[in-house]
Formats: sequence, C-alpha cells, structure tokens
Amino acid sequence: MKLYANETRAIGTRDPMIYGHFLEHFHRQVYDGVYCPGSPLADEDGFRTDVIDAMRKIRVPVLRWPGGCFVSSYHWKDAVGEKREPTFDISWRVEDPNTFGTDEYVKFCRKVGCEPYICTNAGTGDAEEMSDWVQYCNLKNEGKLAKWRIANGCEEPHNVKYWSIGNENWGEHEIGAKSSEEWGRLVLESAKMMLRADPTIELSAAALTDLDWNINLLKKARTRLKWVSIHEYWDWIQTTNRFADYKQSMAYTVDLEAGIRKVRGLLMAMGMEKSIRIAFDEWNLRGWYHPNIHTMIPAANKEDYLYPRDKNDINSLYTMADAVFSACFLNTCLRNCDIVGMANFAPIVNTRGCIFTHADGIVLRSTYHIFDLYVNYLGDVVLDAWSEDQPKMTVTHRRGGDVTVDAVDMVVTRFSDAPGLAVAAVNKEADSEHTITLNFDYEGREVRVYTVAGETTESYNDIDHEEVRVEESEVMSYTKGMEITLKPHSANVIRIL
Ligand code: AHR
Repeated sequence: MKLYANETRAIGTRDPMIYGHFLEHFHRQVYDGVYCPGSPLADEDGFRTDVIDAMRKIRVPVLRWPGGCFVSSYHWKDAVGEKREPTFDISWRVEDPNTFGTDEYVKFCRKVGCEPYICTNAGTGDAEEMSDWVQYCNLKNEGKLAKWRIANGCEEPHNVKYWSIGNENWGEHEIGAKSSEEWGRLVLESAKMMLRADPTIELSAAALTDLDWNINLLKKARTRLKWVSIHEYWDWIQTTNRFADYKQSMAYTVDLEAGIRKVRGLLMAMGMEKSIRIAFDEWNLRGWYHPNIHTMIPAANKEDYLYPRDKNDINSLYTMADAVFSACFLNTCLRNCDIVGMANFAPIVNTRGCIFTHADGIVLRSTYHIFDLYVNYLGDVVLDAWSEDQPKMTVTHRRGGDVTVDAVDMVVTRFSDAPGLAVAAVNKEADSEHTITLNFDYEGREVRVYTVAGETTESYNDIDHEEVRVEESEVMSYTKGMEITLKPHSANVIRIL
C-alpha cells in the first residue's frame, strides 16, 4: 500500500485534549485508585505518586470528574470543608465517604499538570447548585462561596475552565433523566447562571448522536455552549461482561466515524460547526461491567450488583484488541480534529482504565501504551493524506453479518514546532503483516518506528507480567519509496526527522 501526503495542506491542528481521561466515583477509581491516604505509595495529600507519574508520562491534558452516572445525584457541598459526612450514592449503591471532593480533585489535577473538567449534577441538582459550584471554584473572594473555599485552605481560585452540564441525562438509566424539552430548558438556565458566575468558562452539555435530542438542546442553548458531550462504548457489555473477541473488536471500527458524521452534520445544518466542538468525554471500546443496577428493580444482594464489579479489574482481559481499537479511535479524532476537540478515555484508573493500581504498585495496561505512543511520538498538525491499494479485511460484526473494513488505518502528521513527519499506522489484521510505501520527500533523514504490538492479539500486562510496551526500531535512513512492514495487530508511529 502506498502512502502520500500533501505537506502544505493541513486538515488542522489537533487539540491535545483529545488525549484526555475520565475519573468517576465508581468502584476503585477514586478511593483505592488515585486517592489512598495511608498507603506508602501516597504523598502527603493521599494521592498515589505512581499514578501521578504515569499520568504525567502520557501528559494527560484534561481529567473529567466526578461522573458519569455518579454525578446525577451528587451534591458537591457534601464533599468540601471540615464537616463532611458520608452519603449513599444511589447511582452505584455504595457509600461515598466524601473525603475526596472538589478541592482534592483540583489539587490532584494540578499535581498531574492537567486541566480540571467538572461535570455537574443535572439529575437531582439544579441551575443554582451548578452556578454555586462555579462561584466556589472560580470567584476570587466575592460572596460566601468563594470565602468558604478560602476558609477551606484554598486561597487562590481553582480557575476551572471546562464544565459540563449533566451526564447522559437523555437516558432512562440516569438519575433524574430528562425529556429533550426539559433538557433544553434546564441547560439554558444552568448555562445562563454559570456564565453569570464566570463568563470565561467553557460549557458543554450532555448530548447524543441522536438528531432530535440535539436539535432541541442546540436551539435553546446554542449561544452559550462551546461543546457537546458525546459518549461512545462500542462493545456494550455492561450487564454481561462477555467481551467481543479480537476480530469482532476490529469490526466495530466500521462504526467509528458514524457518530461524528451525525453530530457534524447537525452542527453544520444549524450553522454552529465553527462555534461548537465535540467532546467525546467518555469513550472506551467496552462498557464497564456493573450488572443488576440500572434495571427496573435493582438487585438486593451485593453478590449480584456490587461484587461482580471486581471483574473489571482482571488485567488479562485488556489485550491488543483494546489497544488497536483505541489507536483507531484516536486516528478518527485526528482526522476530524476541526470538530473533535476533546476526548476522555473512560476511565483513567482501574475499572476499564489504562492504569491498574494494587497495593504495591501499578500495571500499565495495553491502552496506556497507545497514549504513550500518540502523545509522545506523533505530531500535532494533521495533514491531508491518501493511500493507494488499501488492503481490506472482512470480519463478522457482533450485531450480525460480515463487514469489510480498511485493514490499515493511517494518519500523517507534522510538528508545529520542529521539522519532520510522523505517521500513525495501525494494522488491524490479526495475523498478517502489511507493508506501506512512503512517498514523501525527506531524502536522507532519520527514520524510527515505534510499535505497540505484543506477541499475540491476546497479549496483556499484569503484575510481574509485561507483554505490551512501546518498542523502538533501529534508526534507518529515509529514501523516497522506502517500505515499512507493520506487524499484525499493531499500532505504530513512523517518525521521519
Ligand atoms: O458504565 C459507566 C457509565 O457509563 C458512566 O457512569 C456513564 O456516564 C456511562 O453510561
């Protein structure tokens, strides 16, 4: 397959926030995840330093918090200040000690070096509670809420720029679900009040790839929103934990563009494609496993609804299927970087996250290495690129029927601050190599290939078991027409510097 790019024609510069992450009060993400006071691995604030270091290495740009479904019955005032009491979280049916609240979250973000992105309670909460939260975080010292933050030891404002109104309020599973009519009205009022508290913030609102929901939302709140929040989990196994196998996972790549196309189309039709961007503020190949909870009558026994969540933490389940799919998703965001400005891998730690914590350290799952590859080796300017002789593969979709997808997914980038090119090249094929021919004018430059592959499609990382990492090739000298062979089930960045 031959690859070409027009170096003078950029599609756009990707926002680094497409490499963002998500942290929810669910299972072991916060407590026993990032926050472990008393652990020998925690710092003076109770934050796991090994997690912070791992997040810094992949330069996490933005971290969405506190939910997810959790937020739709969360009252942030319960978790700031001296007097905190545990509350029962009716989304996930567990007690939250409220020891990790807004101040701890912002402090954690600052230590990691990422932007906070707060999702508000638009389920049982109201516009005033949301705008109070903005006041608490962002006002210097005016009013009782800013003064409360100062009294809580945070003299300087938290300056939280990114806020999302609600989480999945379109869904029956969500506490305080809304009709599209109700949603437009609530977002409008909430946005109005939040922007009165701080007009410099950027607002998102829970949306869908569904036209009817979005039309109503955008008609009402169009001038106040900078983002629409979209969630995608392709392998919908929240209640069964029955994973799509490697090839079935590749079949889902046929669906990657669909959501973006729908939302882009609507934004264009409404003349908003320049003012509102898409935040994929939860995404992962597979949904999280939490059976018997979002059902008409939730299960009464913890054996049925709570303990099964531990199965999310079986590291051997996070294989090259997750890694290769994630690389394809990031390629899709890059190709659509004019309209996709943020994406948050869901979640960052434990559950289906890219980092797993245990008492003595962490495991960097296969997906972690995809972020390492893209964040640390790829360029930021996405070029107009095309190929000849694209190999195809036919795989069976879990929905039924065969689908034909491109076997190789490629994006060509350059660097805004340095010379050179970097190609993201993903070979989805389980067993076959593919060779690409590079047709750029970079005679004599140094070429290095960085690869995440593992031995087999089932390779994974666990405690004392590392199969997946970024491997670096020998240095080669570039000649026009040079061939690079991509290993099966691999994600690669080819750098010509
Ligand atoms: O399965 C986890 C949940 O997925 C998140 O809380 C929610 O936002 C999404 O439905």
